[in-house]
Amino acid sequence: MSDDVILEAVDVVKHFGGSGGWLSKKRPVQAVDGVSLQIRRGETFAIVGESGCGKSTLARVLMRLLEPTDGSVRFDGKDISHAQGTDLTALRGDMQFIFQDPFSSLNPRMSVGKLVGEPLEVHAPEMGAQDRRARVATLLQQVGLRPEHADRYPHEFSGGQRQRIGIARALAAEPKLLIGDEPVSALDVSVQAQVINLLADLRGALGLTLVVIAHDLGVIRHMSDRVAVMYLGRIVEMGRAEEVFAAPRHPYTQALLAAIPVMDGARPQTRPSLLGELPSPSDPPTGCRFHTRCPHKQDLCVAQSPALAGEGHQTACHYWEEIAGAFEPPAPVPKSPAAEARFALYRAAAAGGAVHHKTDPATEED
Ligand SMILES: Nc1ncnc2c1ncn2[C@@H]1O[C@H](COP(=O)(O)OP(=O)(O)OP(=O)(O)O)[C@@H](O)[C@H]1O
Ligand SMILES: [Mg+2]
Repeated sequence: MSDDVILEAVDVVKHFGGSGGWLSKKRPVQAVDGVSLQIRRGETFAIVGESGCGKSTLARVLMRLLEPTDGSVRFDGKDISHAQGTDLTALRGDMQFIFQDPFSSLNPRMSVGKLVGEPLEVHAPEMGAQDRRARVATLLQQVGLRPEHADRYPHEFSGGQRQRIGIARALAAEPKLLIGDEPVSALDVSVQAQVINLLADLRGALGLTLVVIAHDLGVIRHMSDRVAVMYLGRIVEMGRAEEVFAAPRHPYTQALLAAIPVMDGARPQTRPSLLGELPSPSDPPTGCRFHTRCPHKQDLCVAQSPALAGEGHQTACHYWEEIAGAFEPPAPVPKSPAAEARFALYRAAAAGGAVHHKTDPATEED
């Protein structure tokens, strides 16, 4: 594991349930089934795929909130797959989770100051009350809130502001890595870009590594350096986001991209995309797991599982070379002024430049 890799998964498997015996009928849910990836220090790494493909399970194993059934996870050079006790406490400080739902993830009976300061009690127990208050004030400012908000309660804030409180709380222990599991999907569209830009800003300012999980490719397309596309517990394509989005090789990635509505003049257009439903992860198809929905399926796909192959841009498809050339990417530039403005923000965030998200919460629309 080279120094610039902060988090690495090697053949990670996470199965749920199943009774083990070979005569048993109850099969385990193969939520994650052989995932290997490397996340580099300081990058934004996105994990995408439709509901139920195993994104959250993978994230929980990467953070050692779950123990892998098989395979291993290394963080900062150390095998954390089965970490316990003080190792685990230290890890909880180094890797922080941003939840999807800022409504249910914040205890409504705690003031914002308490919520943001609480992790400090665990990870910086030597800090005195006054220093802690000062640190909370700094954290609130870093996420675009005001120090005096420390005395208020979560219900007094909008969804976007609540997510900012969640982010401040996640930053309190000075983590090296943040994992956001659908960090903006519960928010109003108009606020999503602000929160995404905030995360991009913080990553740059604090030297964080960011892992973002989303089922909506539109959300991560402009903010991520690299992307992994998951299908039924496995990664089917991985590479630099620019390359994957501009020239997707796997038919599943192509279908996901084709499903993003694009603005053509005034009319949003979606193109035909995925056939059928996601098969059960307790009984996945043989060979390539995508074959039951793939328009390019051949006999080999039913018989043999393709490995994730390639340098840099990797794909798990027997026929990607033939298929990739035929893909016509949807026009990426939206035409409406509001959408233009939003995409300008995304682009600025992606470029890592100065991004002007609203810092005055009183004016934030939500
Ligand atoms: N604790 C659990 N016990 C049993 N099955 C589980 C458990 N957690 C997840 N699963 C199953 O594992 C599969 C993957 O779930 P997971 O939550 O990781 O998907 P996801 O990609 O995050 O989906 P979503 O986009 O809906 O959040 C699903 O079939 C789910 O029902
Ligand atoms: Mg999930």
